[in-house]
Amino acid sequence: MPGRLLLSMRKFVAPEFVFGRGALRLAGRQAAGLGVRRALLVADPGLSLFGWPQMVEQSLAEAGVATERFEALSSNPRDYEVMDGAAAFADCVCDAIVAVGGGSAMDCAKAIGIVSANKRHILSFEGVDNIERPGPPLLCVPTTAGTGAEVSQFAIITDTTRQRKVVIASKTLIPDAALIDPDVTVTMPPDLTAHTGLDALTHAVEAYVSNAQGPVTDLFALEAVRLIAANLPRAIAEPADIEARGAMLLASLYAGMAFSNAILGAVHAMAHSLGGLLDLPHGLCNAILLDHVVAYNYDAAPSRFDTLGRCLGATLDADAPADVRKTAVIETLQAFKRSVGVNQGLLELGLTREVFGDLARRALDDPCLLTNPKKPSQADLEAIYESASQPLA
Ligand SMILES: [Fe+2]
Repeated sequence: MPGRLLLSMRKFVAPEFVFGRGALRLAGRQAAGLGVRRALLVADPGLSLFGWPQMVEQSLAEAGVATERFEALSSNPRDYEVMDGAAAFADCVCDAIVAVGGGSAMDCAKAIGIVSANKRHILSFEGVDNIERPGPPLLCVPTTAGTGAEVSQFAIITDTTRQRKVVIASKTLIPDAALIDPDVTVTMPPDLTAHTGLDALTHAVEAYVSNAQGPVTDLFALEAVRLIAANLPRAIAEPADIEARGAMLLASLYAGMAFSNAILGAVHAMAHSLGGLLDLPHGLCNAILLDHVVAYNYDAAPSRFDTLGRCLGATLDADAPADVRKTAVIETLQAFKRSVGVNQGLLELGLTREVFGDLARRALDDPCLLTNPKKPSQADLEAIYESASQPLA
């Protein structure tokens, strides 16, 4: 039976973006168009090795925009780093922010912007719609294919006192423009390509089964899954394959627009908990948890999970019993993870079973859980952490 069209009201927000080779070189023109005179360039440390921040600075300089570089940020950006960035923004009398990097640089840049505009500590913005004044103009140049932060209305910052990730959600966090250039992603090493690619897959899967999904987010989510299935293994095997890199960056963009509007689910709630307590890489945490959360969620939306499984290459008989289809979907997902070199269990990341209770408690408080298709208990989340503790067979 064909699915019924959802006709309840849904809002969709997305920024202006330019996608394609050479988009990075438009930074100056975009900034000048926004009236920018001096920008704080927030870049992932280490990226200058590849020359990407310098190329953005050059483009800005050619358009008469001065820059100050800020690179003192971690891979899970921390509260005090954001406050230091806001101090640098004020000291340099900047009037805009340009982010060059992965999710860390872009989330840090968004956070510096709202702190600068509202003169409040970053942790006071936690939650949904707690920002009075929008930040200064923000341009984003993503250098990984996965985060979706270049189009999303979220920023995730680590509260270092409580060792937890704080979710900040507001339309004001959507960048003014994103310059999405496949050429800058060819320098990603294979493990980063795999982890960020599986982060994008998780965004698409969680958005597609979210209880805030709609026909527009579905469109982006499913196409993201198809592109990732066809291109992530290629991008890892052939890092310079610009077609595969471009397709992955497009998939990340699609998945970003899907999850920014349909929100996420238990994988992200549980991954935020892991990342906050143990400072672990976001994409890897999601990648390890994804198939285990799908196994838990499957019966809440079986036909949606079947569709996702088919997009990943599963052959499913619609008349087969649900448990047979569920097994096929999960095996397809696990085979895909293995094909991109991810088969670790959580215990290999250096954590012990004793923290599962604490992790589950923290995950229960994460706003991403509100849109999960099923409402888990503390015991359910502990059981998922336990099932993800061992490597894939
Ligand atoms: Fe993510």
